[in-house]
Amino acid sequence: MVDGKQKHLEEMKRNSFDAIVLSSSGEMDLQGRLSRHLREAPIPGDEILGNLGLFLTSKNLSRLLFFSEIYQKIINMHGVVMEFGVRWGQTLSFLLALRGIFEPFNRHRKIIGFDTFEGFKGVSDKDGGKCRCGEGSYAVPGDYEQFLDAVLGLQEGLNPMAHIKRYELVKGDAAHTVTDYLKSHPETIIALAIFDFDIYTPTKAALEAVKPHLCKGSLLVFDELCDDIFPGETIALNEVFGLNNLKIQRLPITARLSYVVME
Ligand SMILES: C[S@@+](CC[C@H](N)C(=O)[O-])C[C@H]1O[C@@H](n2cnc3c(N)ncnc32)[C@H](O)[C@@H]1O
Repeated sequence: MVDGKQKHLEEMKRNSFDAIVLSSSGEMDLQGRLSRHLREAPIPGDEILGNLGLFLTSKNLSRLLFFSEIYQKIINMHGVVMEFGVRWGQTLSFLLALRGIFEPFNRHRKIIGFDTFEGFKGVSDKDGGKCRCGEGSYAVPGDYEQFLDAVLGLQEGLNPMAHIKRYELVKGDAAHTVTDYLKSHPETIIALAIFDFDIYTPTKAALEAVKPHLCKGSLLVFDELCDDIFPGETIALNEVFGLNNLKIQRLPITARLSYVVME
């Protein structure tokens, strides 16, 4: 990335109070140096994509491995995948790649991402004070949705059935967009719903909206359950489904992600 643009992004991150960073200063230094090597890699353009693993750290890889295992759990289930909270879109893009690997001809497996693309909207008292986040945290640059759409289009284009668009980005406040989407797509069955808004209000709205579209075996994935920095996600889940009614599971490869299989 061009240096000036990179600096602008880093400045924007600082100003919009991105969440508290738990890495030690030593880790941050190493991560910064690895990122610089990625930006300055002397690898020819036509070999970059084939060598992205060079920069995957164990932490980042563990997240991808988690989603690979989760995806394999829904292969025999009918229904779409929804991600609530997309930001730069890495998880969404990875899900498209997993569909290309495990079920390239499943025309019904649409992958739909919801985000304001303008950062947090609806921060409330239930989110506590620890995360140091506010309205607009995690915002992406104004034209990012178009960039992501182009990347996802290319990603889909590299897999079979590319002539049928099977992903969608839904922009706006999830307090309204999820209900609106499901009203205009009443046929929707949800096989996998990934909750990563971090905060209470949109998480609760999305949970309430998706509830009638889940069936036995549907998977719900959460990024912030039992997390004191983002308490709102657990509060929302408790209010909509009741924690006592759920078996909240995890995989040993990653600490923060958890999942529930609907019974
Ligand atoms: C932690 S990021 C998501 C990261 C993403 N899941 C990933 O794997 O890279 C949280 C996202 O939730 C979005 N968000 C927060 N409040 C929202 C709301 N009310 N409606 C829609 N999106 C919202 C933010 O814009 C932000 O992009």
